[in-house]
Amino acid sequence: QEAHASQMERTFIAIKPDGVQRGLISEIIARFERKGFKLVAIKLVVPSKAFAGKHYHDLKERPFFNGLCNFLSSGPVLAMVWEGEGVIKYGRKLIGATDPSKSEPGTIRGDLAIVVGRNIIHGSDGPETAKDEIKLWFKPEELTNYTSNQEKWVY
Ligand code: PPS
Repeated sequence: QEAHASQMERTFIAIKPDGVQRGLISEIIARFERKGFKLVAIKLVVPSKAFAGKHYHDLKERPFFNGLCNFLSSGPVLAMVWEGEGVIKYGRKLIGATDPSKSEPGTIRGDLAIVVGRNIIHGSDGPETAKDEIKLWFKPEELTNYTSNQEKWVY
């Protein structure tokens, strides 16, 4: 149990403007919570287009880059950090395939979205991007450190 007491794996998860506007915040948070993951940071922000460009810097050469940045900066985004064993990979599993037409039922995109340009949620795709994205979106003091009572029943 001590192994879980301090720092476990963390990932960056964001509900994009379409997910916020469609009233899907509670639905999405519930899925991460019920799985047993722990919320360590959360805030609602309207990112600037330049900030969106930083977030998606890996995709600069893609034809959809500009549209994707416009979209992310078009309204409030719910930025979160979730913690737990295997949360990076498993978070992606909960989210489902990038293109909702290929996401399995039972996943967030499979159940709640139809097209790739409006796929409601983002999750870091690996340990390096998780670290970078958490750093981009949150100040260190915005990341909480607490013991949730639930944890001793999850691990
Ligand atoms: S790739 O091809 O594997 O690098 O791309 P992928 O990781 O699947 O997707 C990277 C992000 O780009 C978004 N995306 C798109 N947005 C708009 N239009 C199109 N055609 C498109 N294709 C991919 C995709 O949703 C990913 O963003 P996030 O926020 O990570 O979901």
